Amino acid sequence: MRITELKLKNFRNYEDLELHPDPGVNLFFGRNGSGKTNLLEAVHYAALGRSHRISSDANVVRYGEDAALSTVGTETVLGQREITVRFHPGEAQKKEILIDGKTIRRFSDMMGCLRCVIFSPEDLGLIREGPSVRRRYLDMMISQISRKYFIALQQYRTGLDQRNAILRNLRTDPSAGKSLLGVFEEAMAEPAAEIIRERRRIVSHLSEIARDTYLRISGTEEQLRIAYHSSVKEEDNLPESFCRLLQENREDDIRLGMTSVGPHRDDLILTLDRNPMKQFSSQGQVRTAALSMKLSQMKILKDDSGEEPVLLLDDVMSELDRKRRASLISEILSFQTFITCADREDVDCEKVSRMWQVSAENGSASLLPVTP
Ligand SMILES: Nc1ncnc2c1ncn2[C@@H]1O[C@H](COP(=O)(O)OP(=O)(O)OP(=O)(O)O)[C@@H](O)[C@H]1O
Ligand SMILES: [Mg+2]
Repeated sequence: MRITELKLKNFRNYEDLELHPDPGVNLFFGRNGSGKTNLLEAVHYAALGRSHRISSDANVVRYGEDAALSTVGTETVLGQREITVRFHPGEAQKKEILIDGKTIRRFSDMMGCLRCVIFSPEDLGLIREGPSVRRRYLDMMISQISRKYFIALQQYRTGLDQRNAILRNLRTDPSAGKSLLGVFEEAMAEPAAEIIRERRRIVSHLSEIARDTYLRISGTEEQLRIAYHSSVKEEDNLPESFCRLLQENREDDIRLGMTSVGPHRDDLILTLDRNPMKQFSSQGQVRTAALSMKLSQMKILKDDSGEEPVLLLDDVMSELDRKRRASLISEILSFQTFITCADREDVDCEKVSRMWQVSAENGSASLLPVTP
C-alpha cells in the first residue's frame, strides 16, 4: 500500500499543495513551526478521517477559510483509489468523505482504504499518561483491521451516552425512568463484548511482537510485556457478564452520574521485566517501548492484509541515540515512510529516496525539493 499523491487545500498552513511522494523513505525537514507536522496530520486525516492531534476538527481549516481538504491517491493490490476528506464547519454535514469522487454515507466504509501509523514525541504518553491514550491507540489500530469493531465502538458510545444521560437525570429526579437503564445496558452488551473480544485477541498478538521488537531496538535483554485489563472479567458469556457488571454498579453510577465500568474504562498494562513501566521506567526505555508499540502496530496491520501500511514518523529521530536510530531505519525500510525532522542530518541520507525543505512565509507553507 502506498500513497502516490497528496493534495491539500486550506489545510492548516497549506493553502494549495500537490505532492508526489516516493514509495520509499520521504524526508521533510524545516524550521520549527514551518508545517511538517501539519503535513503528516493531513495524511492521517485522509486515512482515518480524523487528526492524530487531540484538537477539534475546526482547527484544521486554514485561518479565514471555509473548508479544509485533504486528498490522497493510493495504490494497493486492489488498484488505485482517491480518498478525500473535506471539513466544512459551516455546512450541516461538516465532514464529507469521498472515495473516487463519490461521497460515502458511512464513515466505516473508509476504514482500511489507507492504513497508516503515526509515531510522534507525544506517543511517550502511551506509557506515561492515563488509560484513554492507550485505548485510543488500540481503537485506532483495530478499527483499521475490522469494520465490525469500528461499528461496535460507535454503537457502544451511543448507548453509553444515553445511559449516562439517564444516570444524570436520576441524580436530580430519582423517579426518572430507572427501568430505561436496563434497555440501554442490553443494547450496549453485544458491542461491548465485540470490543473486549477483539482487544484481547489483538493484545496477545501485540505483546509478542512488541517484546521481540523491543529486544531488537534496545539491544538489551529487557522483557516488554503488554496485557489487556478489562473490568469485565468473565470469559464465558461476555454480553451477560457485561450486563451483570453494569447492574451491580447502578447505584454507584447514579451517585456519580456516569458509567464507571465497561470497555470505555479498560486499560493496557505495560511491564518491563515485570515492573510496571509507568512508575519505574527511564525516559529511554519509555521511548523504546512506545516505538516498539508503533512498529508492532505496523506489523499487525501488515499481517492482516498482506500489505504494508504507510508509516509517518514525526520528529522522532533527534530523540533517539545513534544505535537506536540505525535500528529504526533498518526496521522501516520496507515501508513507505514520511519522516519529519528539524535538521536533515538527523536522518541517514543514504536511506532517503526523496527530500523536501518545508518553509513558511506569511503564514503559508511550501515544499522545496532537495537532492538527497
Ligand atoms: N488552521 C490553521 N491555519 C493556518 N495556520 C495554522 C493553522 N493551524 C496551525 N497553523 C500554523 O502551522 C504552524 C505549525 O505547523 P506544524 O505544527 O506543522 O510545525 P512543525 O514544522 O511541525 O514545527 P515543529 O518543528 O516545531 O514541530 C504554526 O505556525 C501555526 O500557526
Ligand atoms: Mg512538528
